Amino acid sequence: MNAPAPTAMQFSAATIARFDREVAKYPPEQRISAVMACLAIIQQEQGWVSTEAETALAAYIGVEPIAVHEVTTFYNMYNQRPVGKFKLNVCTNLPCQLRGGQAAAEHLAQRLGIEIGGTTPDGLVTLQECECLGACADAPVMLVNDRQMCSFMSHDRLDALLAELHSAAKQGVK
Ligand code: FES
Repeated sequence: MNAPAPTAMQFSAATIARFDREVAKYPPEQRISAVMACLAIIQQEQGWVSTEAETALAAYIGVEPIAVHEVTTFYNMYNQRPVGKFKLNVCTNLPCQLRGGQAAAEHLAQRLGIEIGGTTPDGLVTLQECECLGACADAPVMLVNDRQMCSFMSHDRLDALLAELHSAAKQGVK
C-alpha cells in the first residue's frame, strides 16, 4: 500500500511575493537558483523547513521535490525539524577538535543538560555540531542562530554566552 501523500501546504501571498523577488534575480529557466533564498525565507517565517514546505516550494519553482530536499539536507543551516529559540552550532571538525571543539560541545551539553543534537525542555536552546566554519584559527568556534560567529570559546566564554542567552530570553529579545 502506498504511503499517504503529505498534506499540501499553501504559502501566504506575502511569502509568495518574497519568493517572487528572489526568483526575479535569475533567468526564467534558472528559477531553481533561488531555492536557497526561498528556503531561508521559509525558515525565517516558520522556524524550520518541513517536508510539506519543501514540496510546496518545489511546486512553486517548478522542480521535483527531491531537487529542493537535496539543498535542505546539504546545508546544515536549514533546520529539518523544529529547533529552540537559540540554535548553537559548535564546529567539531578536525582543526577545531584539536583545539577544544569537542570539549566545547560537551561542556555546553553538560551545562544545558541535553545531548548534542537535542533541545532544552523549555525550547530555549538547541545544541548541534557542525562542519568547518572557515575560522579554524579561532577555535573553538561556534555559530548562534546561523548568523553570530563566536570565536575562542573557552568554557568561561561558553558559560557567559549561555548567561547572555538566558538573559536575552527573559527580556524577550528575538
Ligand atoms: Fe572548525 Fe574550521 S575546523 S572552523
